[in-house]
Amino acid sequence: MFEFELLKESKECKARLGEIKTNHGEIETPIFMPVGTRATVKTMAPEELKVIGAQIILSNTYHLFLKPGTDIIKEAGGLHKFMNWDKPILTDSGGFQVFSLSDNRKITEEGVEFRSHIDGSKKFLSPEVSIDIQNILGSDIIMCFDECAPYPATYEYIEHSMNRTTRWAKRCKEHHKNTDNQALFGIIQGGMFKDLREESAKALVELDFPGYAVGGLSVGEPLDLMNEILDYTTDFMPKDKPRYLMGVGTLDYLFEAVERGIDMADCVLPTRIARNGTVMTSKGRLVIKNGKYKADFKPLDEECDCYVCKNYSRAYIRHLFNVDEILGLRLATIHNLYFLLKLMENIRTSIRNDNFLEFKDDFYSKYGYNS
Ligand code: GUN
Ligand code: ZN
Repeated sequence: MFEFELLKESKECKARLGEIKTNHGEIETPIFMPVGTRATVKTMAPEELKVIGAQIILSNTYHLFLKPGTDIIKEAGGLHKFMNWDKPILTDSGGFQVFSLSDNRKITEEGVEFRSHIDGSKKFLSPEVSIDIQNILGSDIIMCFDECAPYPATYEYIEHSMNRTTRWAKRCKEHHKNTDNQALFGIIQGGMFKDLREESAKALVELDFPGYAVGGLSVGEPLDLMNEILDYTTDFMPKDKPRYLMGVGTLDYLFEAVERGIDMADCVLPTRIARNGTVMTSKGRLVIKNGKYKADFKPLDEECDCYVCKNYSRAYIRHLFNVDEILGLRLATIHNLYFLLKLMENIRTSIRNDNFLEFKDDFYSKYGYNS
C-alpha cells in the first residue's frame, strides 16, 4: 500500500499539509527524515527515535550494498527486521553517493563502474542493480538511480546528464515489480537551468511515478538560487503526489522548501553537527564544547522539552564532550533531532492555521537566516 492525501494548501504560499500511508504506518507532511546511512541513525536506538517522534528514516543503498552486503540483509528478512525499525523507511538509490564518495568512477549509458571507498574493490551500480538491491532492502519508498550533477556545471553537461537520468528512470520503472509494497519515486534533475528542470519534470511526470523528488540542489549554490530553481520546478510537479527535496539542509533551507511546496526532506546536518558538539536551540546554534559553558547549569535550550533538556545541563554535556565520553554524542543527537522534528510539527500547525509565513519570520528573527 502507498497513498498520499493532500489535506490542505496554504492560503499564503505554496506550502501544503498532507499524509502518506505505507505498510509500516502513516507519515504527516511536511516531514523531516533523520538519516540512517548504514542502517543506524548514528548513536540512536530505533526505540529512542520513536520516543522523539521520528515517523520515517532514510537509509542508503550505496553503503548497505558495500557493507554488510545485500545477502546478509536478505537473510535477515529485509532492512526493517535487520535494524529493528518497524516504521517507514526510504532508501536513496546510490545515485548520489556513488558520485560523491567512490573512487575512479566511470559513467556509461549502462551504469556506473566504481571502486569502493572502503576497500578499493571494483563495483557496478545501474538502474537495474539499484532497484534489485532496494527490493531486497524492502524499504517503503525507493528512489530511481540518477546522477546528481556537480555545481557549477555547463549547460551541455547538465543537459546530457539530465537526459540520461530520465532514461535511467524509465529503466528503473520497468525493472521495479514490487509496486504494491514499495513506491518508486522519480528524481528531477537539470542543475540550475530552468528549461532543463522543466524538461526533466515533464518527462518524469509522463512516466507516472507515485512520488517525485528534486535532486541536484543544495550542492553548493547560494540559497537564493536554490529557492528560485525550486520554486520554478515545483510548479511542474503534480499536486496529488508527494514531493521530496533531497539532502536539504539547514533550517532556513527547510523553511524555504516548505514555502515552495515541498513535503519531505532529509539531511545529515542535525545529527552530524550534534556529534561535533553543536546544538540547535530556539535562539540559534550553540557550540556546547565551548569553555564558556563549563559552569552553565541551564538546559541546552530553555524552550525545549526533550528528555535531554529536562534532565541534563549544558555544563554536564560540555564536560562529556571535553573528556570524549560517548554519552555526549548521544545526548546532543537526541536533542537536535527532537528540536528539528518538533519544528516540523510546529510548521505543520502553522500551515493548518494559515500563519506559516509569520512563523517563519519569527523563527528567522530568533535563529538567524542563512546560518
Ligand atoms: N541526495 C541529495 N541530492 C541527491 C540527488 O540529486 N540524487 C540522489 N539520488 N540523492 C541525493
Ligand atoms: Zn532539548
